[in-house]
Amino acid sequence: MCGIIGYIGDKKASEVLITGLSRLEYRGYDSAGIALMKNKDIFIYKAEGKLNNLVEVLKDKKNICDSSHIGIGHIRWATHGLPTTVNAHPHTCNCKSLTLVHNGIIENYQELKEELEKYGCKFVSQTDTEVAAHLIAHEYGKYKNLLKAMQAAVKKIQGAFAFCAIHKNEPDKIVVAKRNAPLVIGLGENENFIASDIPAIIEYTKKAIYLNDYQVGVVEKNSIEIYDDDGHLIQNKIEHLPFEAMSISKMGYKHFMLKEIHEQGDVVRNIISGKFVGSDKIQLENFKLTNNEINNISRIQIIACGTSLHAGMVGKYIIEKYAKIPVDVEASSEYIYRDTIADKNTLVIGISQSGETADTITAIKQVKAKGSHIVIITNRADSTMARLADSLLPVNAGIEVSVAATKSYMAQVISLYLLAIYLSEEKDLKEYKDEIKKLKKELVELPNKIEQLLENSKNIKEIAKKYSSYKNFIFIARGINYPSALEGALKLKEISYINATGYGAGELKHGPIAMLDENMPVLAILNTGVVYDKVLSNCEEAKARQAKLIGVTNYLANKDKALFDDLIMIPTVSDILSPALNIIALQLLAYYIAEYLGKDVDQPRNLAKSVTVE
Ligand code: M6R
Repeated sequence: MCGIIGYIGDKKASEVLITGLSRLEYRGYDSAGIALMKNKDIFIYKAEGKLNNLVEVLKDKKNICDSSHIGIGHIRWATHGLPTTVNAHPHTCNCKSLTLVHNGIIENYQELKEELEKYGCKFVSQTDTEVAAHLIAHEYGKYKNLLKAMQAAVKKIQGAFAFCAIHKNEPDKIVVAKRNAPLVIGLGENENFIASDIPAIIEYTKKAIYLNDYQVGVVEKNSIEIYDDDGHLIQNKIEHLPFEAMSISKMGYKHFMLKEIHEQGDVVRNIISGKFVGSDKIQLENFKLTNNEINNISRIQIIACGTSLHAGMVGKYIIEKYAKIPVDVEASSEYIYRDTIADKNTLVIGISQSGETADTITAIKQVKAKGSHIVIITNRADSTMARLADSLLPVNAGIEVSVAATKSYMAQVISLYLLAIYLSEEKDLKEYKDEIKKLKKELVELPNKIEQLLENSKNIKEIAKKYSSYKNFIFIARGINYPSALEGALKLKEISYINATGYGAGELKHGPIAMLDENMPVLAILNTGVVYDKVLSNCEEAKARQAKLIGVTNYLANKDKALFDDLIMIPTVSDILSPALNIIALQLLAYYIAEYLGKDVDQPRNLAKSVTVE
């Protein structure tokens, strides 16, 4: 997490840095800072809390801000040390000649710190980054050259980093380095840009160089030099950036989350557009396995985190049903520390909204080394994960600003439906032909149903208000909606800080039922289909313990309605496609509860949109 930015050129550096940081706020937002170079002096400004606080600090520094054309900046998601001003980046060495911003984690910072203390270095913050600043400055003492100092320092650092450093003695350059954290250099006319991610620079340039791991670069106003790990000067490819300068307007919605929830009909339309032509088999142009290789797939492993993991769990149901291939779904953070079994006949699907989640990247790298074919489903075709893909399935849900994933989840789930259909058709599993035909028709109708549900969401808002004072919730479902229960509970936790837990409804009586009383509402998802009666029985069990019951359903017999305190009706939908509608009801419920409680919906505490540390 954390976002870094750098600028060198003729513009006012402070303006480029602040604009860039505002585009990186999704990476963290607990403090921010910039360093501006002016006439061989470096001026550092920092503030605790949101970026606006830094903007306030800069109002008194107009003179420096208007006359500096080189600078680096940072927006933080704290890993080492509290989110205070002193721990905010940039960090410096004792003589304040060198200034550094950092994204990542330095794993051996304690050892390095002890070593540097022997040389008289004094530390003022609790961060690992300050250790790197002292280390590079220490190397500078030997080499008197910022590039060489950076090259020597990174060899001593273990962990993940993207660095931007400036030095008073070399006021015409920014030196950068990268290992397991993203860094892109944007190319301009008489100016260059550095950032953790494209949105920070896209309004200035469409051309960029991605720095690779173990590379170090020197960025000047009119030149960029990149060096490999052995110190050889090399050329990285210039790439055309895939974005238009993006509007990040809320389009009249109170929060980005609400806007993004309302975009889901169009997200589905975009993904399925052109996919179902007549009665032809579905085409997935970017899926690179041959028909023979598909028939040889012995198992599928889906690896992801958080909301993307829940999308993967929906994927398991559909792929196993229609493609008849066993699927395991696992949190990346667990996958990487196990002796996992995978080979060339294992298809591995990595799912990630950001494409930069450190745990998933590590897991993918591990399994790629075993020869498995890697499919990546991501909203960022320009991400690190996308570049690791053998087959890339970009979902193009559009930039998602709110930290809580909504439309990206929808996009992932719909892509998994398409993948399941594709695998089934490639394997020529005739017994599913009719069902798949119905599913395709339903997928085409889905955007309208999503919009119908969104238009009739007044009831959800009222229910949200009614239940907003409860401190705990249980979400239950079975079958293909079990992941919907997990995801609905996660949404509520993330943005309202209410303790919500999702369970398979059948598991309720194996322990969680002990917690039920009138203070523990139970939200049950029950759709017409094989598990309907079972979930209904589980609801009866909850009601018998005085729990308030909220039902999310597409059908309920009149005789059963009295069981529920409140009902959220979703449009008619088959059991197999119901996760795509149920989740919208749960996203809205979480949103309205958090909004009613006055929470910071788009930037909930302690979270970040892109989790780039393991
Ligand atoms: O970018 P990714 O999809 O890989 O991120 C995974 C999780 O960090 C993410 O889904 C997280 O759980 C979100 N805050 C969900 O709203």
